[in-house]
Amino acid sequence: MKSFLHVSDIGDLKKALAEAAAVKADPYGWAHLGVHRTIILVFFNSSLRTRLSSQKAALNLGLDPIVLNIGKESWQLETRLGVVMDGDKSEHLREAIPVIGSYCDLIGVRAFAGLEDYAYDYAETVLQQFIDYSGRPVISLESATVHPCQAFADLITIEEYKTKPRPKVVLSWAPHPRALPQAVPNSFAEWMNAADVDFVITHPEGYELDPRFVGGARVEYDQMKAFEGADFIYAKNWSAVGAYGQILSKDPSWTVGRRQMAVTDDAFFMHCLPVRRNMIVTDEVIDSPKSLVIPEAANRVVSAQVVMKRMLESL
Ligand code: CP
Repeated sequence: MKSFLHVSDIGDLKKALAEAAAVKADPYGWAHLGVHRTIILVFFNSSLRTRLSSQKAALNLGLDPIVLNIGKESWQLETRLGVVMDGDKSEHLREAIPVIGSYCDLIGVRAFAGLEDYAYDYAETVLQQFIDYSGRPVISLESATVHPCQAFADLITIEEYKTKPRPKVVLSWAPHPRALPQAVPNSFAEWMNAADVDFVITHPEGYELDPRFVGGARVEYDQMKAFEGADFIYAKNWSAVGAYGQILSKDPSWTVGRRQMAVTDDAFFMHCLPVRRNMIVTDEVIDSPKSLVIPEAANRVVSAQVVMKRMLESL
């Protein structure tokens, strides 16, 4: 595996889920793979889960993880080509990336969407430069348009908790005070479309995701109707794609609470975290026994480890 951005990069999902179960049952079973090898985890943005789960996954595989926080522990990096570097950016990615590549065997990159320029973000301008210039396999640790390690962990969690062969899974927009990227809902949609689930997306009008990620999923603008008979509710905020990066609604009636969960088939609640309580979801729902947010986060180690394992095996 040369890069990990899309569900297609992991290949057969049944095989990937079986491998995830094997890794979870025996986390140190492949500890020989990473000996005398290094992964550099590059963070342009904040993180709790991705930073820690990626390091833990690397350690389980015998890899040495090095974390680099851009702009805090490094120079500020220029990401656009052809610009006169007369501002606050001291170094360009074109030099920084091959230098980073020369110190390691694998690279993980977190580089969020700026939400100002759709074409720049949806071209994955920063991550693509790491793929093009590092000479190393590259993992998206949430880049401008995708968060595949999260979506893989979400699928592992659904596989572990489902009680029906083909559960109904609903991705629901929920309000948030700030404009957020579409990476998590994009990847969740991409992975659910590839999985054996009945997948529905619900959001207010104007919050349509990019059609490349929506695929063949059913879109239902009536949240209550979407939730009927659901087995898993996945809540997430995202900003508009059409009016790029804009907040079009903060409608509190979309906050996932007891009212919506009552029409589901006793659904599990999921969210990638961090979550704004009583904006995205009520305390009552996230604190209920049906909330999977902690096991879901724990599975981030498993998804990262499967991806790093595959990359090490193909070096
Ligand atoms: N879910 C997730 O990626 O969490 P962090 O932003 O804390 O890494």
